[in-house]
Amino acid sequence: MGILEVKNVGKRFGGLQALGDVNLSVAENSVHAIIGPNGAGKSTLLNCLVGKLIPDTGSVMFDGQSVLGRTPYEINQMGISRVFQTPEIFADLTVMENMMIPCFAKRDGAFKLNGIKSVESEAEIRDRAEAMMEDMNLAEKRHMHAASMSRGDKRRLEIAMCLAQEPRLLLLDEPTAGMARADTNNTIDLLKEIKQKRDITIVIIEHDMHVVFSLAERITVLAQGTPLVEDVPSKIKGHPKVREAYLGETAAA
Ligand SMILES: Nc1ncnc2c1ncn2[C@@H]1O[C@H](COP(=O)(O)OP(=O)(O)OP(=O)(O)O)[C@@H](O)[C@H]1O
Ligand SMILES: [Mg+2]
Repeated sequence: MGILEVKNVGKRFGGLQALGDVNLSVAENSVHAIIGPNGAGKSTLLNCLVGKLIPDTGSVMFDGQSVLGRTPYEINQMGISRVFQTPEIFADLTVMENMMIPCFAKRDGAFKLNGIKSVESEAEIRDRAEAMMEDMNLAEKRHMHAASMSRGDKRRLEIAMCLAQEPRLLLLDEPTAGMARADTNNTIDLLKEIKQKRDITIVIIEHDMHVVFSLAERITVLAQGTPLVEDVPSKIKGHPKVREAYLGETAAA
């Protein structure tokens, strides 16, 4: 049994079957990549794992508990954090201010409208944010506005904000999309370092095969909402099912 068990998940959008019958088992503390052409259903699947979408059929279990019917916030509290396809940081806030948001949420269990109640708790949250920035090599940029950071650093901040919530499962939707090679390599190194330092399971959706083969222990190939093959990277390389999955995209290119 994996820490994440997806069974027979299906999702339609009107006449479109975005996910057919998806089965996926992700081992605890592994890095599992999901690859596939545009429109394969990768983001839809991730959205079903974090409560953003409710599948029409099937079940999604995390550590023996169903995530279905829970709000995104409750799922987050279960230990699942997600990095979206476009960075979700507050551009007008500094790195430090951004970092304090998840630390605050973790400290108080929920965002409270009346704000931080005591000086002690604010100091505690600041300390936590500082420690996280040190850990993630962001400390020197603490006063920088997020808007002026490079794409790679924005991603680093966003991943740091997820990690501040101490997730057991980190979901990454194309974390290197649109990045220059140097930023991509930095992100690969960052994720390797995170894996070395923590007990964490990572599910990564990625088009860049350099990233996939640098990080993944297992790979699932999704095409038209259905997993075609799942295996270790060495078996996926050159697998006929992978060519089959991408054929539509290649033919259209
Ligand atoms: N909210 C929605 N309403 C209607 N159709 C949708 C919705 N979200 C996704 N789709 C459709 O479902 C299919 C799967 O989309 P999805 O975004 O999951 O693909 P993807 O594999 O993440 O693609 P990409 O690699 O481009 O990010 C696509 O045909 C898409 O147009
Ligand atoms: Mg997507």
